[in-house]
Amino acid sequence: MLEKINETTAFLRSEGFIDPELGIILGTGLGGLTARIEKRIQIEYRRIPNFPLSTVEGHEGKLIYGELGGKKIIAMKGRFHYYEGYGPDQVALPVRVLKYLGIKHLFLSNAAGGVNPDYQIGDIMIITDHINLLPNPLIGKNDDRIGVRFPDMGEAYDKYLIKKAMLIAAEHHLRVHKGVYLATSGPTFETPAEYKYFRIIGADAVGMSTTPEVIIARHMNIPCFAISVITDLGIEGKIEYVTHQSVQHEAEKTESKMTAVMTDLIKSL
Ligand code: HPA
Repeated sequence: MLEKINETTAFLRSEGFIDPELGIILGTGLGGLTARIEKRIQIEYRRIPNFPLSTVEGHEGKLIYGELGGKKIIAMKGRFHYYEGYGPDQVALPVRVLKYLGIKHLFLSNAAGGVNPDYQIGDIMIITDHINLLPNPLIGKNDDRIGVRFPDMGEAYDKYLIKKAMLIAAEHHLRVHKGVYLATSGPTFETPAEYKYFRIIGADAVGMSTTPEVIIARHMNIPCFAISVITDLGIEGKIEYVTHQSVQHEAEKTESKMTAVMTDLIKSL
């Protein structure tokens, strides 16, 4: 793994991806933030050694380097999900490469179904904690050079960044929640009984991503910050037919709220 990480890191450095301060992984329909990146260099995943390819519509599969909010950043436009058939190493590699390139923070976004009865479509949720129902990406032999065998997950999402983001959201007069994100494998959306179950066990929103990347990042001690965009509701009486297109459409409509919070938060770092 480390050899591959080093090879990919060296390739990206040679392409000009020098000393990024922050990494961003963008979810379904949420890639528009990248339009704000200045002095950009971008590379398609298929040109990057050891990178998996993104197979999902709405996930373009590009790594973009440049400046946002006065900081050097790298954005992953398109991520890798277990439901695409990727194994833990493939999900882990890009996040590890970001760390080896030098990022000090990792920001993530995703589209999610709201299971908290107070939530509405178009709300944003700052993730305070998660329930990972996906295979843990750290299963397998541990490389102590990358991180410890048994990482603590008591503060998976950085408290300071959450506090700051709440203040920024208030300044923008945004409807924002703090909540627990539950990750399930997909690719099916939930049955009504599953939505109910996820609520009972403590979730506020449910999706198919983010937790593997956060686990990989926390293994390397990178502070994480993540936002869910609520694209549909898994609440009794409010459940409607969901498609990937409806999720993408709602995510695109709400994206500017998420972008505003992320951009101001990056500026404040
Ligand atoms: N369930 C799982 N994943 C999702 C959902 C959902 O309702 N909405 C967007 N991603």
